[in-house]
Amino acid sequence: MAVIRSVVRGVGAYLPERIISNDELSERLDTSDEWIRERTGIRQRHIAADGEFTSDLGIAASRQAMVRSGIDPSDIDVVILATSTPDQTFPATAATIQAELGIQRGAAAFDLQAVCSGFVFALATADSLLRSGPYRRALVVGAETFSRILDWEDRTTCVLFGDGAGAVVLEAQPQHGTNDDRGILSTRMCTDGRYRDKLFVDGGPSTSRTSGYLRMNGREVFRHAVTKISGVIEETLVESGLAADEIDWFVPHQANKRILEGTAAKLGIPIEKIIITLDRHANTSAASIPLALNQGVEDGRIKEGDLVLLEAMGGGFTWGAALIRW
Ligand code: ACO
Repeated sequence: MAVIRSVVRGVGAYLPERIISNDELSERLDTSDEWIRERTGIRQRHIAADGEFTSDLGIAASRQAMVRSGIDPSDIDVVILATSTPDQTFPATAATIQAELGIQRGAAAFDLQAVCSGFVFALATADSLLRSGPYRRALVVGAETFSRILDWEDRTTCVLFGDGAGAVVLEAQPQHGTNDDRGILSTRMCTDGRYRDKLFVDGGPSTSRTSGYLRMNGREVFRHAVTKISGVIEETLVESGLAADEIDWFVPHQANKRILEGTAAKLGIPIEKIIITLDRHANTSAASIPLALNQGVEDGRIKEGDLVLLEAMGGGFTWGAALIRW
């Protein structure tokens, strides 16, 4: 039976120029390259320059994805930006991306906030819009400047995050309705707000009139991560009738090497199939999955027809997964 699927037409990414290594951090904080690498796998992070905003990062990544897609910006009907670090409280930073890229006036452009799960939530939302119509082409972006909400005196959090952006262009295409179809095959989004105090920002327009700083109970996040992530992946696989051994590439949210290797081991996915980029850019929240996807496509690992599994977990708690036939 013919169905509409959201097919990935292009991917792009951007990292700010300035790199801060673990060694540089340990000059100003009581930490070490060894501690950070052993606990997380992170070697360095990129930090946006003064005057360089989330929109700038998102625009650079989107431009690359648009060029590679071969689709004219005037043909994009919807822009969804996943971010927890917008330029302003409003308007949506997606509106800036829309205007700067020359995306058609009147196309829907909005921000979506699900912290580190933001890209999976944005992809699932765009997929629903494309499959239900009248939207035909979507730009889905993850862009963050977490450096602006980090407490740089707090070694338990500031060593873990960085800035960056990634984007994909999706197009609604008729497919056969089987697991061999190209496009997004299945998605899941979950939230459990009882855990909202485990990872949060201690400010906001309504509570403190400030943007606040990130606070985290790292052990609690870690404790929930592998169980929640592997659970949602298993549900996504069951729903689509696919098995873990059919996955060609596992592209997880890049938070911590131990979490993603633990998840892969639980699901029986070999380490060689995981695309890992967190050593180079640390946790870039909603930007981390498209950054890793971009790497996998650029270095020729992800090819047309491959089955790609995405997953993420973050503040809320939020978590989710998506299966895509590239
Ligand atoms: N450098 C040196 N020592 C440190 C640092 C640091 N940067 N940070 C903490 N320590 C110390 C602690 O003070 C503690 O010292 P103590 O034993 O004297 O009290 C010791 O290291 C151990 O601290 P723990 O918090 O128990 O360390 P743990 O092994 O749990 O690792 C970490 C901490 C890396 C944060 C881990 O809990 C983790 O990865 N959690 C998941 C957090 C995460 O990924 N969040 C991202 C957002 S959510 C997501 O994307 C999934």
